Amino acid sequence: MQKTMFASAALASLSACAQPETAELTEVAQIERGDYLVNGVVLCGDCHTPRLENMALDETRELHGADIGGPPTMATYAPPLAGLPADYNDEQFIAFLQTGVRPDGSQPRPPMPPYRLNEADARAVAAYIATLPRAEN
Ligand code: HEC
Repeated sequence: MQKTMFASAALASLSACAQPETAELTEVAQIERGDYLVNGVVLCGDCHTPRLENMALDETRELHGADIGGPPTMATYAPPLAGLPADYNDEQFIAFLQTGVRPDGSQPRPPMPPYRLNEADARAVAAYIATLPRAEN
């Protein structure tokens, strides 16, 4: 009995001081996962980041929007996303990443891929993109 009480008291004090730290770590880990997904897997920057003369992505303007050329039947400009795309709130952007449908019910034209991320990945991508400095107009 005494042992149990000690254990639960110790656990309670442990979780009391561990919780805020855990929440913070989770947010950092989520942003890191978003960084990995955006820059290592789905490669949003391939279209949405402008390129330098040598065709390398201009990392100082990550996801600031870019002309991508291509046939006139497709979209030739990939709009800025950094800091969240214009006219999307967090939840709208997370929903978009899971459905490919804009808040107004329309869908972007190709070559924008119709991503169907799961909710955790969509939240990670949105958390990361929200940390990027917005493009200046
Ligand atoms: C192959 C090129 C390409 C890739 C890769 C790409 N996009 Fe796009 N994206 C576009 C283009 C082009 C448009 C504009 C479509 C249009 O004008 O109809 C667009 C449009 C969008 C829009 C719509 C903005 C609006 O005005 O409603 C969002 C949001 C978006 N992209 C987010 C992303 C994210 C996030 C990623 C990575 C997960 C990504 N895109 C990857 C090319 C791309």
